[in-house]
Amino acid sequence: MKIRKVVIPVAGWGTRSLPATKNIPKEMLPVYNKPGVQYVVEEAIRSGIQDIVFITNRDKNVIEDHFDYNLQLEGVLERAGKLEQLAQIRQVAELANCISIRQKKQLGLGHAVLCAKDVVCADDAFAIMVGDDLLFGMNPGVQQLLDVARSERLPVIGVMEVPQEKVNRYGIISGEEVSPGIYRVNKLVEKPPVSEAPSRLAIIGRYVLTPEIFGHLEKVQPGHGGEIQLTDALQGQADGRGLLAVKIRGMRFDVGDWAEYLTANIYFALQDEELRYDLIGHLKPLLPWA
Ligand code: UTP
Repeated sequence: MKIRKVVIPVAGWGTRSLPATKNIPKEMLPVYNKPGVQYVVEEAIRSGIQDIVFITNRDKNVIEDHFDYNLQLEGVLERAGKLEQLAQIRQVAELANCISIRQKKQLGLGHAVLCAKDVVCADDAFAIMVGDDLLFGMNPGVQQLLDVARSERLPVIGVMEVPQEKVNRYGIISGEEVSPGIYRVNKLVEKPPVSEAPSRLAIIGRYVLTPEIFGHLEKVQPGHGGEIQLTDALQGQADGRGLLAVKIRGMRFDVGDWAEYLTANIYFALQDEELRYDLIGHLKPLLPWA
């Protein structure tokens, strides 16, 4: 199973993050010293995928620009002898091959994925990484799915256990555990009421799918929130050739949730040894009870 491309949908409105996202894409909000979407692209690269297919909209050109050269800024840094920063910004431009597709109407995540059909339909399989879901651990999140997809030759989605009271924020699966942390999926429900969720296994923003998914997406009617839901198309995949879910190991932050976004900033800043003690010094007086 050859997997060379990843689809990263970044065309949503980001209404949970207003007013910050009035003119700045949610995926460009900084998480410590990088925009959130850069962590997602770096995870793809660490997993061996270099072709990035962004699903964007008319206001998101700044995302493509971030992964391109900025020759004027490079000149300024070069003349100022700021060679470390120069190397840093060049390295971002050289991270990946980027392809952009416009999602002309924001009809949901499933519709965003469908926009990539012509670009990925000739491939054996492709990955999807949601542009505002950050995952960190020893083994990159999408790599954990690629390993299972290649060995089982089936589409795979990433899941994580969430607290019962939060199941109504996610797509939730039920399935049979076929080996430790790997499930054959039977049922998927988008944002179920807390009392009706079939489990606490929530779909997080990582998928490895085959072009079969497009046939299912084309049949999906608008579901939860009037959007074309990827979760509904995945039910078609589970009922047909089959679908596996892998419990992803690592930490996850949803950039669209303020508490998780702010925690991600502190988490990354604490990894920087030069900043760590200064930051702790500033935080301590804010948390006198801790
Ligand atoms: P979200 O569910 O977080 O939606 O989308 P959103 O519109 O970005 O944000 P809120 O809920 O209004 O705050 C998950 C991912 O899918 C993309 C988003 O950009 C985000 O990365 N998406 C969503 C699209 O690309 N197109 C859509 O029509 C909807």
